[in-house]
Amino acid sequence: MLKLSKLATAVALVVAGSAAGAGEVEVLHWWTSGGEAKSVGELKSIMQGKGHTWKDFAVAGGGGDNAMTVLKSRVVAGNPPAAAQIKGPAIQEWASEGVLADLTPVATTEKWDSLLPGVVANVMKYKGKYVAAPVNVHRVNWMWANAAVLKKAGVASAPKTWDEFFAAADKVKKAGLIAVAHGGQNWQDFTTFESVVLGVGGAKFYNDALVKLDQKALTSATMTKALETFRKVKAYTDPAAPGRDWNLATAMVIQEKAAFQFMGDWAKGEFTAAGKVPGKDYICAAAPGTANAYTFNIDSFAMFRLKDANAQKAQGDLAAAIMGTQFQEIFNLNKGSIPVRLNMDMAKFDDCAKLSAKDFVGTAKSGGLVPSIAHQMAVNPAAQGAIQDAVSQFWNDDKVSVADGVKSIAKAAATK
Ligand code: GAL
Repeated sequence: MLKLSKLATAVALVVAGSAAGAGEVEVLHWWTSGGEAKSVGELKSIMQGKGHTWKDFAVAGGGGDNAMTVLKSRVVAGNPPAAAQIKGPAIQEWASEGVLADLTPVATTEKWDSLLPGVVANVMKYKGKYVAAPVNVHRVNWMWANAAVLKKAGVASAPKTWDEFFAAADKVKKAGLIAVAHGGQNWQDFTTFESVVLGVGGAKFYNDALVKLDQKALTSATMTKALETFRKVKAYTDPAAPGRDWNLATAMVIQEKAAFQFMGDWAKGEFTAAGKVPGKDYICAAAPGTANAYTFNIDSFAMFRLKDANAQKAQGDLAAAIMGTQFQEIFNLNKGSIPVRLNMDMAKFDDCAKLSAKDFVGTAKSGGLVPSIAHQMAVNPAAQGAIQDAVSQFWNDDKVSVADGVKSIAKAAATK
Protein backbone atom coordinates (compact mmCIF):
# COMPACT_ATOMS: atom_id res chain seq x y z
CA MET A 1 0.00 0.00 0.00
CA LEU A 2 2.74 2.34 1.09
CA LYS A 3 4.71 1.39 -2.00
CA LEU A 4 1.77 2.20 -4.23
CA SER A 5 1.20 5.62 -2.73
CA LYS A 6 4.92 6.37 -3.06
CA LEU A 7 4.68 5.37 -6.69
CA ALA A 8 1.67 7.60 -7.17
CA THR A 9 3.55 10.55 -5.66
CA ALA A 10 6.51 9.87 -7.90
CA VAL A 11 4.31 9.72 -10.99
CA ALA A 12 2.55 12.92 -9.95
CA LEU A 13 5.92 14.65 -9.57
CA VAL A 14 7.10 13.51 -12.97
CA VAL A 15 3.89 14.67 -14.62
CA ALA A 16 4.05 18.02 -12.82
CA GLY A 17 7.69 18.33 -13.74
CA SER A 18 7.11 17.87 -17.42
CA ALA A 19 4.04 20.08 -17.42
CA ALA A 20 5.90 22.99 -15.83
CA GLY A 21 6.98 25.26 -18.63
CA ALA A 22 5.29 23.10 -21.25
CA GLY A 23 4.11 25.26 -24.10
CA GLU A 24 2.84 25.12 -27.61
CA VAL A 25 5.04 25.68 -30.62
CA GLU A 26 3.39 26.45 -33.87
CA VAL A 27 5.93 25.74 -36.59
CA LEU A 28 5.59 27.01 -40.16
CA HIS A 29 7.39 24.93 -42.79
CA TRP A 30 6.94 23.55 -46.30
CA TRP A 31 8.13 20.03 -45.69
CA THR A 32 5.23 18.01 -47.05
CA SER A 33 6.81 15.45 -49.40
CA GLY A 34 7.40 11.89 -48.13
CA GLY A 35 11.03 12.37 -47.12
CA GLU A 36 10.47 15.89 -45.81
CA ALA A 37 7.45 14.97 -43.68
CA LYS A 38 9.37 12.10 -42.13
CA SER A 39 12.24 14.44 -41.31
CA VAL A 40 10.15 17.14 -39.69
CA GLY A 41 8.26 14.42 -37.81
CA GLU A 42 11.50 13.76 -35.91
CA LEU A 43 11.54 17.32 -34.60
CA LYS A 44 7.93 17.03 -33.62
CA SER A 45 8.59 13.92 -31.54
CA ILE A 46 11.60 15.45 -29.82
CA MET A 47 9.48 18.43 -28.81
CA GLN A 48 6.61 16.23 -27.68
CA GLY A 49 9.13 14.22 -25.67
CA LYS A 50 9.95 17.43 -23.81
CA GLY A 51 6.27 17.82 -22.98
CA HIS A 52 5.51 20.57 -25.48
CA THR A 53 2.64 20.62 -27.94
CA TRP A 54 3.55 20.76 -31.62
CA LYS A 55 1.14 22.68 -33.80
CA ASP A 56 1.96 21.86 -37.38
CA PHE A 57 1.69 24.76 -39.81
CA ALA A 58 2.66 23.13 -43.09
CA VAL A 59 2.16 25.12 -46.27
CA ALA A 60 2.69 22.88 -49.29
CA GLY A 61 4.85 24.10 -52.14
CA GLY A 62 8.47 23.12 -52.61
CA GLY A 63 11.01 25.88 -52.26
CA GLY A 64 8.77 27.77 -49.84
CA ASP A 65 7.26 30.52 -52.03
CA ASN A 66 3.73 29.76 -50.80
CA ALA A 67 4.88 29.44 -47.19
CA MET A 68 6.48 32.89 -47.28
CA THR A 69 3.29 34.49 -48.61
CA VAL A 70 1.25 32.91 -45.84
CA LEU A 71 3.82 33.91 -43.24
CA LYS A 72 3.65 37.57 -44.26
CA SER A 73 -0.10 37.70 -43.86
CA ARG A 74 0.07 36.06 -40.42
CA VAL A 75 2.71 38.50 -39.18
CA VAL A 76 0.88 41.50 -40.61
CA ALA A 77 -2.25 40.30 -38.79
CA GLY A 78 -0.22 40.36 -35.55
CA ASN A 79 -0.45 36.60 -35.14
CA PRO A 80 2.93 35.08 -36.02
CA PRO A 81 3.73 31.41 -35.48
CA ALA A 82 6.32 30.56 -32.80
CA ALA A 83 8.82 29.48 -35.43
CA ALA A 84 9.06 29.65 -39.20
CA GLN A 85 11.36 28.24 -41.82
CA ILE A 86 13.17 31.42 -42.89
CA LYS A 87 16.50 31.32 -44.63
CA GLY A 88 19.46 33.39 -45.74
CA PRO A 89 19.20 37.16 -46.21
CA ALA A 90 15.46 37.03 -45.42
CA ILE A 91 16.44 36.39 -41.78
CA GLN A 92 18.03 39.83 -41.69
CA GLU A 93 14.96 41.41 -43.27
CA TRP A 94 12.59 39.90 -40.73
CA ALA A 95 14.92 40.78 -37.86
CA SER A 96 15.11 44.40 -38.99
CA GLU A 97 11.31 44.57 -38.63
CA GLY A 98 11.82 43.91 -34.92
CA VAL A 99 9.55 40.85 -34.86
CA LEU A 100 12.10 38.10 -34.12
CA ALA A 101 12.99 36.73 -30.69
CA ASP A 102 16.52 36.89 -29.33
CA LEU A 103 17.92 33.36 -29.10
CA THR A 104 21.22 34.43 -27.54
CA PRO A 105 20.50 32.87 -24.11
CA VAL A 106 20.03 29.37 -25.55
CA ALA A 107 22.82 29.87 -28.11
CA THR A 108 25.22 30.85 -25.32
CA THR A 109 24.25 27.94 -23.07
CA GLU A 110 24.52 25.50 -25.95
CA LYS A 111 27.77 27.07 -27.24
CA TRP A 112 26.56 27.60 -30.81
CA ASP A 113 29.48 29.87 -31.68
CA SER A 114 31.89 26.96 -31.30
CA LEU A 115 29.57 24.45 -32.99
CA LEU A 116 28.89 26.30 -36.24
CA PRO A 117 31.04 27.41 -39.14
CA GLY A 118 31.47 31.20 -38.88
CA VAL A 119 29.77 31.86 -42.23
CA VAL A 120 26.68 29.99 -41.05
CA ALA A 121 26.58 31.66 -37.62
CA ASN A 122 26.68 35.10 -39.27
CA VAL A 123 23.58 34.37 -41.33
CA MET A 124 21.73 33.29 -38.17
CA LYS A 125 22.62 36.49 -36.30
CA TYR A 126 21.25 40.00 -36.51
CA LYS A 127 23.39 42.71 -34.97
CA GLY A 128 25.41 40.06 -33.16
CA LYS A 129 22.41 38.23 -31.68
CA TYR A 130 21.13 34.85 -32.80
CA VAL A 131 17.62 35.09 -34.22
CA ALA A 132 17.49 31.76 -36.08
CA ALA A 133 18.59 28.17 -35.52
CA PRO A 134 20.23 26.31 -38.42
CA VAL A 135 19.07 22.82 -39.28
CA ASN A 136 21.26 21.41 -42.01
CA VAL A 137 23.37 21.96 -45.10
CA HIS A 138 21.78 20.98 -48.40
CA ARG A 139 23.86 20.82 -51.56
CA VAL A 140 21.92 22.03 -54.57
CA ASN A 141 24.21 21.23 -57.52
CA TRP A 142 23.37 17.54 -57.72
CA MET A 143 22.29 15.40 -60.61
CA TRP A 144 20.32 12.29 -59.66
CA ALA A 145 20.28 9.31 -61.99
CA ASN A 146 18.53 5.98 -62.08
CA ALA A 147 21.18 3.25 -62.46
CA ALA A 148 18.89 0.77 -64.26
CA VAL A 149 17.74 3.39 -66.77
CA LEU A 150 21.33 4.36 -67.58
CA LYS A 151 22.16 0.70 -68.10
CA LYS A 152 19.17 0.17 -70.34
CA ALA A 153 20.15 3.20 -72.42
CA GLY A 154 23.77 2.12 -72.65
CA VAL A 155 25.15 5.01 -70.61
CA ALA A 156 28.23 3.71 -68.83
CA SER A 157 28.54 6.32 -66.08
CA ALA A 158 27.15 9.64 -64.92
CA PRO A 159 28.11 12.39 -67.40
CA LYS A 160 30.67 14.87 -66.10
CA THR A 161 30.41 17.62 -68.70
CA TRP A 162 27.43 19.15 -70.49
CA ASP A 163 28.56 17.59 -73.78
CA GLU A 164 28.64 14.19 -72.13
CA PHE A 165 25.28 14.92 -70.58
CA PHE A 166 23.57 15.68 -73.88
CA ALA A 167 25.11 12.57 -75.45
CA ALA A 168 23.76 10.48 -72.56
CA ALA A 169 20.37 12.18 -72.72
CA ASP A 170 20.12 11.33 -76.44
CA LYS A 171 20.73 7.68 -75.64
CA VAL A 172 18.01 7.70 -72.99
CA LYS A 173 15.55 9.25 -75.46
CA LYS A 174 16.45 6.60 -78.01
CA ALA A 175 15.71 3.92 -75.41
CA GLY A 176 12.19 5.38 -75.20
CA LEU A 177 12.54 6.92 -71.75
CA ILE A 178 12.40 10.47 -70.45
CA ALA A 179 15.88 11.97 -70.12
CA VAL A 180 15.20 14.75 -67.61
CA ALA A 181 12.51 14.59 -64.93
CA HIS A 182 11.51 18.18 -64.31
CA GLY A 183 8.79 19.98 -62.47
CA GLY A 184 7.89 23.18 -64.28
CA GLN A 185 7.53 25.51 -61.32
CA ASN A 186 9.53 28.73 -61.14
CA TRP A 187 11.74 27.65 -58.25
CA GLN A 188 12.55 24.34 -59.97
CA ASP A 189 13.42 26.10 -63.24
CA PHE A 190 15.65 28.37 -61.16
CA THR A 191 17.28 25.39 -59.41
CA THR A 192 18.24 23.88 -62.76
CA PHE A 193 19.34 27.29 -64.04
CA GLU A 194 21.80 27.91 -61.21
CA SER A 195 23.42 24.49 -61.72
CA VAL A 196 23.77 25.19 -65.44
CA VAL A 197 25.32 28.61 -64.77
CA LEU A 198 27.72 27.02 -62.28
CA GLY A 199 28.62 24.23 -64.69
CA VAL A 200 29.12 26.49 -67.68
CA GLY A 201 30.82 29.43 -65.97
CA GLY A 202 32.43 28.02 -62.82
CA ALA A 203 32.20 29.24 -59.22
CA LYS A 204 33.79 32.66 -59.76
CA PHE A 205 31.43 33.44 -62.61
CA TYR A 206 28.46 32.19 -60.60
CA ASN A 207 29.48 34.43 -57.74
CA ASP A 208 29.88 37.49 -59.96
CA ALA A 209 26.63 36.94 -61.84
CA LEU A 210 24.25 35.48 -59.27
CA VAL A 211 25.56 36.69 -55.92
CA LYS A 212 27.13 40.07 -56.67
CA LEU A 213 24.65 40.58 -59.54
CA ASP A 214 27.44 42.16 -61.56
CA GLN A 215 25.98 43.50 -64.83
CA LYS A 216 29.14 42.72 -66.78
CA ALA A 217 28.93 39.06 -65.83
CA LEU A 218 25.17 38.96 -66.33
CA THR A 219 25.47 40.25 -69.91
CA SER A 220 28.64 38.31 -70.82
CA ALA A 221 29.19 35.67 -73.48
CA THR A 222 29.37 33.11 -70.65
CA MET A 223 25.81 33.95 -69.67
CA THR A 224 24.75 33.52 -73.29
CA LYS A 225 26.38 30.10 -73.29
CA ALA A 226 24.63 29.23 -70.02
CA LEU A 227 21.20 30.19 -71.40
CA GLU A 228 21.82 28.18 -74.57
CA THR A 229 22.67 25.15 -72.45
CA PHE A 230 19.69 25.76 -70.16
CA ARG A 231 17.33 25.85 -73.14
CA LYS A 232 18.88 22.69 -74.50
CA VAL A 233 18.16 20.88 -71.21
CA LYS A 234 14.49 21.78 -71.54
CA ALA A 235 14.29 19.86 -74.81
CA TYR A 236 14.89 16.68 -72.80
CA THR A 237 11.97 17.17 -70.40
CA ASP A 238 8.54 15.67 -71.03
CA PRO A 239 5.40 17.60 -72.08
CA ALA A 240 3.75 16.98 -68.70
CA ALA A 241 6.47 18.85 -66.79
CA PRO A 242 4.65 22.19 -66.32
CA GLY A 243 3.36 22.54 -62.77
CA ARG A 244 4.67 19.18 -61.59
CA ASP A 245 5.85 19.00 -57.96
CA TRP A 246 9.55 18.28 -57.48
CA ASN A 247 8.97 15.06 -55.55
CA LEU A 248 6.82 13.70 -58.38
CA ALA A 249 9.73 14.39 -60.72
CA THR A 250 11.99 12.50 -58.31
CA ALA A 251 9.44 9.66 -58.32
CA MET A 252 9.84 9.41 -62.10
CA VAL A 253 13.55 8.72 -61.58
CA ILE A 254 12.85 6.32 -58.72
CA GLN A 255 10.29 4.41 -60.83
CA GLU A 256 12.63 4.06 -63.82
CA LYS A 257 10.54 6.36 -66.01
CA ALA A 258 13.24 8.99 -66.30
CA ALA A 259 17.03 9.01 -66.17
CA PHE A 260 18.06 12.29 -64.54
CA GLN A 261 16.86 15.04 -62.26
CA PHE A 262 18.64 18.27 -61.34
CA MET A 263 17.66 18.93 -57.76
CA GLY A 264 19.16 19.57 -54.33
CA ASP A 265 19.72 16.63 -52.01
CA TRP A 266 16.27 16.79 -50.47
CA ALA A 267 15.62 14.54 -53.49
CA LYS A 268 17.71 11.94 -51.71
CA GLY A 269 15.13 12.05 -48.91
CA GLU A 270 12.63 10.67 -51.45
CA PHE A 271 14.99 7.91 -52.61
CA THR A 272 15.64 7.03 -48.96
CA ALA A 273 11.94 6.97 -48.09
CA ALA A 274 11.41 4.63 -51.08
CA GLY A 275 14.08 2.28 -49.70
CA LYS A 276 16.52 2.96 -52.56
CA VAL A 277 20.27 2.60 -52.11
CA PRO A 278 22.79 5.08 -53.52
CA GLY A 279 25.44 3.54 -55.77
CA LYS A 280 23.12 0.61 -56.46
CA ASP A 281 19.66 1.84 -57.40
CA TYR A 282 20.58 5.42 -58.07
CA ILE A 283 23.58 7.66 -58.54
CA CYS A 284 24.27 11.01 -56.97
CA ALA A 285 26.73 13.02 -59.02
CA ALA A 286 27.58 16.69 -59.21
CA ALA A 287 25.69 18.42 -62.04
CA PRO A 288 27.89 18.48 -65.17
CA GLY A 289 30.91 20.74 -64.80
CA THR A 290 30.30 21.42 -61.09
CA ALA A 291 32.31 18.72 -59.29
CA ASN A 292 34.66 21.32 -57.79
CA ALA A 293 31.92 23.61 -56.62
CA TYR A 294 29.14 23.51 -54.07
CA THR A 295 25.93 25.56 -54.01
CA PHE A 296 24.84 25.53 -50.39
CA ASN A 297 21.36 25.85 -48.99
CA ILE A 298 20.98 26.04 -45.24
CA ASP A 299 17.56 25.50 -43.73
CA SER A 300 16.86 27.40 -40.56
CA PHE A 301 14.05 28.37 -38.24
CA ALA A 302 13.61 31.91 -37.03
CA MET A 303 11.54 32.42 -33.88
CA PHE A 304 8.99 35.18 -33.49
CA ARG A 305 8.61 37.32 -30.37
CA LEU A 306 5.89 35.91 -28.16
CA LYS A 307 4.62 37.19 -24.81
CA ASP A 308 3.63 33.96 -23.06
CA ALA A 309 6.43 32.61 -20.81
CA ASN A 310 5.66 28.94 -21.56
CA ALA A 311 5.65 29.65 -25.27
CA GLN A 312 9.05 31.32 -24.90
CA LYS A 313 10.36 28.31 -23.01
CA ALA A 314 9.09 26.03 -25.78
CA GLN A 315 10.84 28.20 -28.36
CA GLY A 316 14.12 27.93 -26.45
CA ASP A 317 13.73 24.17 -26.26
CA LEU A 318 12.98 24.02 -29.98
CA ALA A 319 16.12 26.00 -30.77
CA ALA A 320 18.24 23.78 -28.49
CA ALA A 321 16.73 20.62 -29.99
CA ILE A 322 17.45 21.78 -33.55
CA MET A 323 21.14 22.18 -32.79
CA GLY A 324 21.29 19.03 -30.63
CA THR A 325 23.22 15.97 -31.84
CA GLN A 326 20.17 13.66 -31.72
CA PHE A 327 18.15 15.82 -34.08
CA GLN A 328 21.07 16.76 -36.32
CA GLU A 329 21.71 13.09 -37.02
CA ILE A 330 18.23 11.62 -37.40
CA PHE A 331 16.78 14.59 -39.28
CA ASN A 332 19.59 14.79 -41.80
CA LEU A 333 19.66 11.03 -42.36
CA ASN A 334 16.06 11.34 -43.54
CA LYS A 335 16.28 14.71 -45.24
CA GLY A 336 19.23 14.01 -47.54
CA SER A 337 21.25 16.90 -46.15
CA ILE A 338 24.26 16.89 -43.82
CA PRO A 339 24.42 18.21 -40.26
CA VAL A 340 25.24 21.89 -39.93
CA ARG A 341 26.71 21.26 -36.47
CA LEU A 342 30.46 20.73 -36.66
CA ASN A 343 32.26 17.53 -35.66
CA MET A 344 29.25 15.26 -36.00
CA ASP A 345 29.86 11.54 -36.43
CA MET A 346 29.05 10.72 -40.08
CA ALA A 347 29.24 6.92 -39.65
CA LYS A 348 25.54 6.34 -40.31
CA PHE A 349 25.43 8.58 -43.39
CA ASP A 350 25.56 7.25 -46.97
CA ASP A 351 28.23 7.95 -49.59
CA CYS A 352 26.35 10.92 -51.10
CA ALA A 353 26.24 12.63 -47.70
CA LYS A 354 29.87 11.81 -47.04
CA LEU A 355 30.82 13.31 -50.41
CA SER A 356 28.74 16.38 -49.61
CA ALA A 357 30.48 16.80 -46.24
CA LYS A 358 33.92 16.40 -47.83
CA ASP A 359 33.15 18.82 -50.65
CA PHE A 360 31.61 21.37 -48.27
CA VAL A 361 34.93 21.62 -46.44
CA GLY A 362 37.04 21.33 -49.60
CA THR A 363 35.18 23.97 -51.60
CA ALA A 364 35.18 26.35 -48.63
CA LYS A 365 38.97 26.31 -48.90
CA SER A 366 39.19 26.40 -52.71
CA GLY A 367 36.64 29.17 -53.26
CA GLY A 368 34.13 26.82 -54.88
CA LEU A 369 31.56 27.20 -52.10
CA VAL A 370 28.77 29.53 -53.25
CA PRO A 371 25.28 30.34 -51.92
CA SER A 372 22.27 29.01 -53.82
CA ILE A 373 20.27 31.84 -55.38
CA ALA A 374 17.28 29.60 -56.07
CA HIS A 375 17.09 28.66 -52.39
CA GLN A 376 17.18 32.08 -50.78
CA MET A 377 20.85 32.07 -49.83
CA ALA A 378 22.41 34.58 -52.20
CA VAL A 379 20.42 37.77 -52.64
CA ASN A 380 17.51 39.59 -51.01
CA PRO A 381 14.04 38.12 -51.61
CA ALA A 382 12.95 40.90 -54.00
CA ALA A 383 15.93 40.41 -56.30
CA GLN A 384 15.55 36.66 -56.13
CA GLY A 385 11.89 36.83 -57.08
CA ALA A 386 12.53 39.15 -60.03
CA ILE A 387 15.39 37.08 -61.45
CA GLN A 388 13.50 33.84 -60.88
CA ASP A 389 10.53 35.17 -62.85
CA ALA A 390 12.76 36.25 -65.73
CA VAL A 391 14.44 32.83 -65.81
CA SER A 392 11.09 31.04 -65.90
CA GLN A 393 9.75 33.29 -68.64
CA PHE A 394 12.74 32.32 -70.75
CA TRP A 395 12.37 28.63 -69.87
CA ASN A 396 8.65 28.57 -70.63
CA ASP A 397 8.68 30.45 -73.90
CA ASP A 398 10.93 29.03 -76.59
CA LYS A 399 10.16 32.05 -78.77
CA VAL A 400 12.17 34.34 -76.49
CA SER A 401 15.66 34.52 -78.01
CA VAL A 402 18.72 33.78 -75.92
CA ALA A 403 19.85 37.39 -76.39
CA ASP A 404 16.52 38.68 -75.04
CA GLY A 405 16.66 36.16 -72.20
CA VAL A 406 20.07 37.45 -71.17
CA LYS A 407 18.78 41.04 -71.32
CA SER A 408 15.69 40.43 -69.24
CA ILE A 409 17.55 38.47 -66.56
CA ALA A 410 20.17 41.24 -66.30
CA LYS A 411 17.40 43.84 -66.15
CA ALA A 412 15.60 41.96 -63.37
CA ALA A 413 18.86 41.84 -61.42
CA ALA A 414 19.44 45.57 -61.89
CA THR A 415 16.07 46.80 -60.71
CA LYS A 416 16.27 45.29 -57.24
C1 GAL B 1 14.23 24.08 -50.23
C2 GAL B 1 14.48 23.69 -48.81
C3 GAL B 1 14.65 22.23 -48.72
C4 GAL B 1 13.52 21.49 -49.42
C5 GAL B 1 13.18 22.10 -50.77
C6 GAL B 1 11.95 21.51 -51.43
O1 GAL B 1 14.10 25.47 -50.33
O2 GAL B 1 15.65 24.32 -48.36
O3 GAL B 1 14.75 21.86 -47.38
O4 GAL B 1 12.45 21.45 -48.60
O5 GAL B 1 13.04 23.46 -50.68
O6 GAL B 1 10.81 21.70 -50.68
